[in-house]
Amino acid sequence: MFKHTETDHGTPARESEQEVTLNIDGVDVTVPAGTSLMRAAVDAGIKVPKLCATDSLEPFGSCRLCLVEIEGRRGYPASCTTPAEAGMKVKTQSDKLQSIRKGVMELYISDHPLDCLTCAANGDCELQDMAGVTGLRNVRYGYDGANHLKAKKDESNPYFAYDPSKCIVCNRCVRACEETQGTFALTISGRGFEARVSPGQDQPFMDSECVSCGACVQACPTATLQEKTVIMLGQAEHSEITTCAYCGVGCGFKAEMKGNQVVRMTPWKDGRANEGHSCVKGRFAWGYATHKDRIKAPMIRAKITDPWREVSWAEAIGHAASEFRRIQAKYGKDSIGGITSSRCTNEETYLVQKLIRAAFGNNNVDTCARVCHSPTGYGLGQTYGTSAGTQTFKSVEKADIIMVIGANPAAAHPVFASRMKKRLRAGAKLIVVDPRKIDLVDSAHIKADYHLQLRPGTNVAVITSLAHVVVTEGLLAKEYIAERCDDKSFREWSEFCARPENSPEAMAAVTGVPADVVRGAARLYAGGPNSAIYYGLGVTEHAQGSTMVMGIANLAMCTGNVGREGVGVNPLRGQNNVQGACDMGSFPHELPGYRHISDSTTRAQFEAAWGVELAAEPGLRIPNMFEAAQAGSFMGLYCEGEDIVQSDPNTQHVAESLMAMECIVVQDIFLNETAKYAHVLLPGASFLEKDGTFTNAERRISRVRKVMPPLAGYADWEVTQLLSNALGYPMNYKHPSEIMDEIAALTPSFAGVTYEKIDRLGSVQWPCNDNTEEAGTPIMHIGKFVRGKGRFIITKYVATDEKVTRKFPLLLTTGRILSQYNVGAQTRRTPNSMWHSEDVIEIHPHDAEERGIKEGDWCGIQSRAGETVLRAVVTERIQPGVVYTTFHFPESGANVITTDSSDWATNCPEYKVTAVQVMPVAQPSEWQRSYTRFNKVQEDLLKNREVAAAVTK
Ligand code: SF4
Ligand code: SF4
Ligand code: SF4
Ligand code: FES
Repeated sequence: MFKHTETDHGTPARESEQEVTLNIDGVDVTVPAGTSLMRAAVDAGIKVPKLCATDSLEPFGSCRLCLVEIEGRRGYPASCTTPAEAGMKVKTQSDKLQSIRKGVMELYISDHPLDCLTCAANGDCELQDMAGVTGLRNVRYGYDGANHLKAKKDESNPYFAYDPSKCIVCNRCVRACEETQGTFALTISGRGFEARVSPGQDQPFMDSECVSCGACVQACPTATLQEKTVIMLGQAEHSEITTCAYCGVGCGFKAEMKGNQVVRMTPWKDGRANEGHSCVKGRFAWGYATHKDRIKAPMIRAKITDPWREVSWAEAIGHAASEFRRIQAKYGKDSIGGITSSRCTNEETYLVQKLIRAAFGNNNVDTCARVCHSPTGYGLGQTYGTSAGTQTFKSVEKADIIMVIGANPAAAHPVFASRMKKRLRAGAKLIVVDPRKIDLVDSAHIKADYHLQLRPGTNVAVITSLAHVVVTEGLLAKEYIAERCDDKSFREWSEFCARPENSPEAMAAVTGVPADVVRGAARLYAGGPNSAIYYGLGVTEHAQGSTMVMGIANLAMCTGNVGREGVGVNPLRGQNNVQGACDMGSFPHELPGYRHISDSTTRAQFEAAWGVELAAEPGLRIPNMFEAAQAGSFMGLYCEGEDIVQSDPNTQHVAESLMAMECIVVQDIFLNETAKYAHVLLPGASFLEKDGTFTNAERRISRVRKVMPPLAGYADWEVTQLLSNALGYPMNYKHPSEIMDEIAALTPSFAGVTYEKIDRLGSVQWPCNDNTEEAGTPIMHIGKFVRGKGRFIITKYVATDEKVTRKFPLLLTTGRILSQYNVGAQTRRTPNSMWHSEDVIEIHPHDAEERGIKEGDWCGIQSRAGETVLRAVVTERIQPGVVYTTFHFPESGANVITTDSSDWATNCPEYKVTAVQVMPVAQPSEWQRSYTRFNKVQEDLLKNREVAAAVTK
């Protein structure tokens, strides 16, 4: 087991080539220059009393508890703010120091309620500890003078409370909000005795800029800022390290437990992806795991208009298997398939694709990663030879220029956004390429040097015109290209880019970005010295998604920005295990490790291991499954942990396709939108109920650990195994570690990955084998590209079919919000909905006025696929001609409007560009009204289900 230390070193570690040796309390200690005396003392095994210092924050020097004596110096310097120097002789303990510290504590305690025994932080309070350490026995000043003991609590935040009576004004929360989170929501208002922590302008937390990341709560040494669950439940009695099940950042968390009950989730200090930070989702929004809506028993029904009937696991699994076999007997072997989920573990995903290939006997497996980052896999595979990002998150600390394209990290990858913002505040330059004025463009202490506010759908035109500037202005990294890249492809590509029609001036009419802005951004990026690109779904979810990924790869290569720290091409993955779902062979044409199913050598390897003959032809992608269903040749679907009805484009088409099928088996924790069309509902298990691994956007494989038994009795991998056995293909894994052993044996990129190694090292980054460091490969393509020579690919801009017309004059683009996650099935079942309780449509004041739309009005949004109605938010965040919405609520029907337009290479839907008209309306759309009726019927069918006396395994 990885031994994680809880030691607080008081101040952050310093990096320096120079070391200094000093003596503390008679112990010689050597530390990097710049290290504080406090940290050096901890290294020497000596703890200096402290209150305002903690090692995640820069020292502040306000509490005066950490004073020390230094031989030959006058006074008592604070050890947290005094750097260690060679030859110093330091004393951390003396009668004088003891007396000063006691005096300091006496002052604190004289204005602090003495309700320790009933305080939520009893036993977990640094003030209490320091009272003990300093030997405080009585307080001479009494409580009669002015104090804050009756100060009013702020309980507006749903997750934590602020009790000012307990505040010692140590400033740790303010610094955490600034340094760690980068939101700057807190200040100390008032001076001297009046000083108190204040969100915004003396506002309640919920009315302030606070985004509820929890960093201040984590930093607070007292019960002033305290999780409400701890106030309610008391402190945990054991804990387990696990990984957040929300976004692709993959933050490590300590699940603090009382028996099987989670008391709180605290960000893991040794988690390499987050280094002790968190966002509102992972930190607080875990209550869905025990929500009353959880499906706790298997259910079946013959038709979707029938009520559900709870049955035993054996009956449900037997029924699903016999239905699948019946369908295959009637319609042929290829008439069934399955969908894996980026939310499930690697092991579960691997097992589902194995079930489909080995037990179903076809390759009809696809994944929700199809609809987000499939172009990343294709584009980076073609140019560099691996289908993954090139860096660790930590690498951003070495970047000089950061280009963010089609991503809104503050909303979708918040913990990485905080790391990026920290680097930007320290001086890195920023280029944002996005149709919206996202938070990064102009936020607290951050301003983009260039914002390329392009028209949706013109990414490729922008990236090619950036390359045009690099090529024609002599900004190429010639030596790098000559040494590391394919010469022929470079010559063809550079000739293409240099053409006048690709210049920023020529492209401006298409992109809407002024030529001088493009030229300035290109020069800045090419000038580096370390330039890094981070991109998101605003790149991939386009008709030219794959082309754009290759355009990004070209730009990074031609400027020499791949293969070292601080640079690279970094896809910000949406869901927690998108990388893993792709790695595990979830696509119909690829076996695990991105090896084509038609390759007979690879197939032979799997055939030998799995003991079956595998079909050599790629199977159906999700959109092809729908087409085949409507054509009557695809009749059965096994869908694990994915809600295609809500998340896939053109909802009505998806629903019609599902209704055409004869047996849909949904395995999920809730009755999601897809489950409303299902015939068999198998209860899923949340991330708290199973063992396994997730792979984050950095290729980092981290453990998910079971902290409570599965509510319905089985983890998801066990359910897939039961189904496989019922289908006559035996699977007998006893633990997910055995599945990982099989993955590692069959998948070159996972070779060398074991649970033992992950447990020992905390996490590993693939590739992780005999040729790499033990913990794997933080930076890819050092010295040479994985494919050998980096390959340039011509990226010709082709306008999408989704063009504005007189009928549909606006472009709709979609995205996410911080507090909700994806289809919202989890976050909507938590108090996170207090921040975002409905999807809205953002519209520019000019377009709103033209249509007579005011803030809060109902707007009908119509595309060639369908119509829905949302409330208007009139904002200049969005440019004229463009509207924006999120897709977190099923009743909004954002995907009723999105169309079948998709990426040419991978079929990733073009969510980011839909031509629409927006008009004020008085009532919900026809689709919304029929959805409400359908939903009510389905919820009633669940509510009125036939309940089995006792559902048994
Ligand atoms: S919860 Fe986060 S954003 Fe809110 S005040 Fe605390 S540190 Fe700042
Ligand atoms: S709220 Fe906590 S962290 Fe902030 S100043 Fe008060 S005691 Fe310190
Ligand atoms: S940033 Fe992502 S992984 Fe980290 S806590 Fe938030 S949702 Fe979870
Ligand atoms: S810990 Fe050093 S002054 Fe507070």
